Amino acid sequence: MTWEELEQKCHQCLNCPLGETRTNMVFGVGNRQADILFIGEGPGEQEDLQGEPFVGPAGKLLDVMLELIDLDRTKVYIANIVKCRPPNNRDPLNAEQDACIGYLRAQTALIKPKIIVCLGRIAAMRIIDKDFRITRQHGQWFDRAGVQMMAIYHPSALLRDPTKRPETFLDLKSLQAKIRELSPDTYLT
Ligand code: URA
Repeated sequence: MTWEELEQKCHQCLNCPLGETRTNMVFGVGNRQADILFIGEGPGEQEDLQGEPFVGPAGKLLDVMLELIDLDRTKVYIANIVKCRPPNNRDPLNAEQDACIGYLRAQTALIKPKIIVCLGRIAAMRIIDKDFRITRQHGQWFDRAGVQMMAIYHPSALLRDPTKRPETFLDLKSLQAKIRELSPDTYLT
């Protein structure tokens, strides 16, 4: 499937009830050739209105986090487990994740990232390990079929609980080191 075909399919998708209530499907943003893929949970209010991931308060913090390690949206790709907003920002249901995850898998197959960063426990439980414990396992590296993966706290969690920020800074520095090792070109362009 090409990017255009995939995006078209997502725009038309009614595979789960979230399709009925969305304002906009939130496909993803960034560099389609990136070596680094960030995966969040699902669109919030602002994302639903604007059709772009991480543009609300959590997104502003994500941009700061990227900047701390010399990244920005032109150097990475950012997507979510589900592409339509769950009502009242509740966690996406398993059935909704099941209905949507194929699109993210297709995006991942096109991007071929070397590094995947899960933002928060919902993404980590879906992508790294169904029993993932974010408090204990954030910042740890996992090899999944040759792709290096880790999870960090979701920026919304860091907004709610700033005491988690110092450990997240260490996780980001570990990510930066991994990028220097596996994708030095990311920092040259
Ligand atoms: N939270 C997410 O997980 N994804 C977004 O796109 C915005 C907020």
